[in-house]
Amino acid sequence: MTTATAVAHPNIALVKYWGKADASLALPATGSVSMGLDVFPTTTTVTVGAAEDTLTLNGAATTDGALVRVTQFLDLVRDLAGSSDRAAVVSDNTVPTGAGLASSASGFAALATAAAAAYGLDLSPRDLSRLARRGSGSATRSIPGGVAVWHAGDDQGSYAEPVPAPPMAMVVVTIDAGPKPIGSREAMRRTIATSPFYPAWVTSTTETVTDMLTACAAGDFTRIGELTESNALRMHATIEGAFPPIRYLTARSVAVFDAVAGLRADGLQAWATADAGPNVVVLTTPEDRGAVAAALAGYGDVIESGTGPGAHLLRSEDTEAPGPGVVRPEESAE
Ligand code: DP6
Repeated sequence: MTTATAVAHPNIALVKYWGKADASLALPATGSVSMGLDVFPTTTTVTVGAAEDTLTLNGAATTDGALVRVTQFLDLVRDLAGSSDRAAVVSDNTVPTGAGLASSASGFAALATAAAAAYGLDLSPRDLSRLARRGSGSATRSIPGGVAVWHAGDDQGSYAEPVPAPPMAMVVVTIDAGPKPIGSREAMRRTIATSPFYPAWVTSTTETVTDMLTACAAGDFTRIGELTESNALRMHATIEGAFPPIRYLTARSVAVFDAVAGLRADGLQAWATADAGPNVVVLTTPEDRGAVAAALAGYGDVIESGTGPGAHLLRSEDTEAPGPGVVRPEESAE
């Protein structure tokens, strides 16, 4: 039996991914740019050599759609490795699942990293990112961590890589940690099929990616913030244009956007964004993050985050005894 354990963190897009050009290859319609968080890690252990694929999520055996998605993902890894062995997957996810905080990003980035190692694949960061993409689009960007761009393109060309950027921080305002009314995958499909704003979203976001990379390279934090908030609102407007409409932002979300505008008027660097849920994430600087968090404490559960690391394997000595680590085939007791 071969076992590997990996850790990955969520990321929050500064320029959003919303819509696929090719669903079977998980190719996005546009590029996107994100900041990886240093909070809410997912730790996943993959042990190859089980009787069947199993998934234990936060301590509970899981047999629903989550296991189907994990099995389909493991099939891709098995194809690459030329293996038909089944695996036991044990994942501990500290992201509030389904709350629009991209739990699938850290989940599939950790699974890709652990499964590739457990099946004996030696993938480059680029190929690991391409593999994670097949699990969930946003997971592509959790492989590099930090500030990352995920390129649109074909199967070979669609991966994420780090980009130079000024120091950043985020304040996550969790308004509602319950499951969202409609998952992002289905909501993307409906947006593409029915929102008259979708073509404009694709055109404008493609331009915004270029503008964002320019602003990041120049270290122009105010421009980064302006583009971040604008792109988030454009995504939500596009989603709201679907039929039947989908609306993720609630009155409480909008109140946080207003409060963030007030913080800017007070001289702080603070710019709001939100994914497919009501929670709001505020982009800020390391200097201002404490003041931003204190000011928003009344709006929900507030957590500060710096810029986080990329997905990585844990060596055996990094895990608490007798926790699993990477066990090379030659070391394993079969
Ligand atoms: C709003 O990555 O969850 O968070 O590729 O279908 O798994 P799938 O979608 P997912 O969508 C994330 C959308 C978003 C924006 C973003 O993270 O860029």
